[in-house]
Amino acid sequence: MKRKSDTYKVGRNDPCPCGSGLKYKKCCYGSKAPEKGTLAEIYMKKYNIRLKQKRDIAGIRRAGRLAIETLDLVEARLEPGITTEMINTWVHEFTIKSGAVPAPLNYRGFPKSVCVSVNEVICHGIPGERVLAAGDIVNVDVTPILDGYYADANKTFFVGDPGPDARKIVNVARNSLKAGMAAVRPGSTVGDIGWAIQSYAEGKGCSVVREFVGHGVGFAFHEAPQIFHYGRKGEGIALVPGMVFTIEPMINLGRRYLTVLDDNWTAVTRDGSLSAQFEQTVWVTANGVESLTPFDL
Ligand code: MF3
Ligand code: CO
Ligand code: CO
Repeated sequence: MKRKSDTYKVGRNDPCPCGSGLKYKKCCYGSKAPEKGTLAEIYMKKYNIRLKQKRDIAGIRRAGRLAIETLDLVEARLEPGITTEMINTWVHEFTIKSGAVPAPLNYRGFPKSVCVSVNEVICHGIPGERVLAAGDIVNVDVTPILDGYYADANKTFFVGDPGPDARKIVNVARNSLKAGMAAVRPGSTVGDIGWAIQSYAEGKGCSVVREFVGHGVGFAFHEAPQIFHYGRKGEGIALVPGMVFTIEPMINLGRRYLTVLDDNWTAVTRDGSLSAQFEQTVWVTANGVESLTPFDL
């Protein structure tokens, strides 16, 4: 009797038997020398992606808990009349007091400990003397380094009572992250995440910023791979267990185009429309996805 493995046929769309996590047709199908090595070795060699082990996940999760506590602290103190500099002080002091280091400070010359992006600012807003007013929306993006592990998360908050435009863009941005996360499981691809986000956000009449992407994270601030927030189903790198990356779609109420101000950081919508963003650090598990910076979406 033939053993089952002798007769089993690998379909072109099945996972490659070499364990790469890719579809057979995109990997060893038709090649004379199948890829050798563990998944971690293959992903490092092919993509420069560092898969995370259980102990790493535990470390990133601890940093992630601190990131969420930091966002909660800011939310509780937000009110009309405060400056964005005050948010920086709160984040900086809470991070240090918690035994961590704020990754943004001096990162490629960034001068503050947190990014604070108001209204038409898409991302990388530098805290300063700007005073928040009722009706503003404000994104707060924090990245603590705790015991060497990085976790990256952000939320967009209302200051006072929001108008209809503010309500809409924050809602669409939140649901864009949710749609992206729902596409994460072993065997789906980076393109699946982008497609889920783009089709949802554009379906709501909003636009997706393309100049900034999500990214691998954990051992460093920005690791491989890049996670595009737009794209096509089935394209790009296949997701495999042990990957840790951010999803952080920036969604504009108007057109997707941006301008970077003279400070070389602040990215604003070219048409002046509102922009909102939510970000979580996610872990690809054996069965699906788990957030290491969880908050309700
Ligand atoms: N936290 C941002 C991200 O989500 C990166 C900010 S870089 C900084 O990737 F230098 F502006 F802090
Ligand atoms: Co990020
Ligand atoms: Co971030």
